[in-house]
Amino acid sequence: MRRGFMSSALVVLGLLAAPVTPALAQGETPQATVTVRGDTPGPRLYRQVFGQFAEHLGHGIYEGIWVGEKSSIPNDHGYRKDVLQALRDIKVPLVRWPGGCFGDEYHWRDGIGPRNKRPVKINTNWGGVNEDNAFGTHEFMGFVEKLGAETYVSLNVGSAPPSEGAQWVEYMTSPNGSTLAKERAANGHAAPWKVEYLGIGNELWGCGGNMRADYAADVTNRYAQFAKSGNGKMIKIASGGLEDDVAWTDTMMRVAGKYIDGYSLHYYTIPGGFNAKKQALGFSEVEWAETIARTIKMEELITKHSAVMDKYDPAKTKWLAVDEWGTWFAPAPGSNPGFLVQQNSIRDAVVAGLNLNIFAHHADRVKLTAIAQMVNVLQAMLLTDGPRMVKTPTYWVYDMYKPWQDATVLPTDLSSPWYNKDQYVAPAVSVSAVRDTAGQVHIGLVNADPNRAMPVSMTLTGVQASSVAGRILTGATMDAHNSFDQPNTVVPQPFTGAQVNGGTLSVSLPPKSVVVLDLR
Ligand code: AHR
Repeated sequence: MRRGFMSSALVVLGLLAAPVTPALAQGETPQATVTVRGDTPGPRLYRQVFGQFAEHLGHGIYEGIWVGEKSSIPNDHGYRKDVLQALRDIKVPLVRWPGGCFGDEYHWRDGIGPRNKRPVKINTNWGGVNEDNAFGTHEFMGFVEKLGAETYVSLNVGSAPPSEGAQWVEYMTSPNGSTLAKERAANGHAAPWKVEYLGIGNELWGCGGNMRADYAADVTNRYAQFAKSGNGKMIKIASGGLEDDVAWTDTMMRVAGKYIDGYSLHYYTIPGGFNAKKQALGFSEVEWAETIARTIKMEELITKHSAVMDKYDPAKTKWLAVDEWGTWFAPAPGSNPGFLVQQNSIRDAVVAGLNLNIFAHHADRVKLTAIAQMVNVLQAMLLTDGPRMVKTPTYWVYDMYKPWQDATVLPTDLSSPWYNKDQYVAPAVSVSAVRDTAGQVHIGLVNADPNRAMPVSMTLTGVQASSVAGRILTGATMDAHNSFDQPNTVVPQPFTGAQVNGGTLSVSLPPKSVVVLDLR
């Protein structure tokens, strides 16, 4: 938390760095062209790029995931059944927990043992509400186990000593014998868990301790040194700096590069900027355009931070982990402002599609991401209200992009018309393509223009296709969304606007749409 205001001018300048060829000036008939280079396949797109972030924040965990065994809401050992099933359906590969800013005030011992004996604390970051620690280590591990996902645990570096983190890791991972392993067994889990990813603090420049880069890098080395898994390799991920702070990246890679396996980048799409956020619904076209413009700054940020990482790690062994990203709007009217509740519309779906395509372009470096956040917070997959649950447009994008998980990226060359409104300019079309593990090719397309359909002419090299099918997500208005009363307003529909003929594919992309094509 605590971000500066990025000016509109910067947004426009940032856009011009996007690796897309402008096709036409405004006013001409729009037409995008794409070459999918199936004959020069790129890297694997790790399924971990489709990870999720679940923080102790508002109703993200309590009510969203965890209702407790005694709840009248149908649950499986305390976890909401509807939420579990919805998340399984999109094959969530990993969950980052417990924060976020919450993580750097979290003491793991508060969240183990009998629930009625756990201390009640104040969640000082998010609304000042009581945190009764009902959801702790065992509950988190049970949750990811039920999802079939991997664990990404964020250590408290800001306000706990390294020994506390080291002991937590030992409690979670040590096979047997030690007092901590026995305590874990006495609390109900004899077998060690795996912690695949370990965050060495969160936003150490801000809520994680207001550190300078040099100090943060030293601290990172210290915490990374003493956190030792008893059960396999942990990918240790260092905290990144604020957005485009490449000097921080340089320092962290130079000082701590040897002791870490990954480096984190947080970047949110915040129309209006952090201190003047705009609404999630009922917005103008200028706000739509600003949202698109701010989103594709992700491409520039990844490029800049990757370049610094390349300097110290030319073999690209270290992961760039974009472990917080997504839209951040003004709190939903009537909600607790500390709970970061916001509706999710077709605009969020377009933001998700744009970001997923950007991550695919950078699959050689971006190996993990975590959208913020999983349920009921910021750009959520799911919203709940008592016993009701609704799948958001963002959820459906994750559903459509499932074939991207662990697929091989096929490079794409794109020439796109511009979309612009006032000072905001962006390529209208975005694309990524993959060959999945069964050999089938899939193409993901986004039309960020809310008004104009975009014809796309695609050349396929090294891809044999005689038929094409697909799904489209779009909405009647810029803020079309799913509500508890009308949960199916924005859901994928069969897409019939693509034809394949030999090595060419013609597509007509409706305005404000995300389309996934499956070639056969
Ligand atoms: O996702 C909400 C907050 O945003 C996280 O707690 C923090 O890491 C970031 O500033």
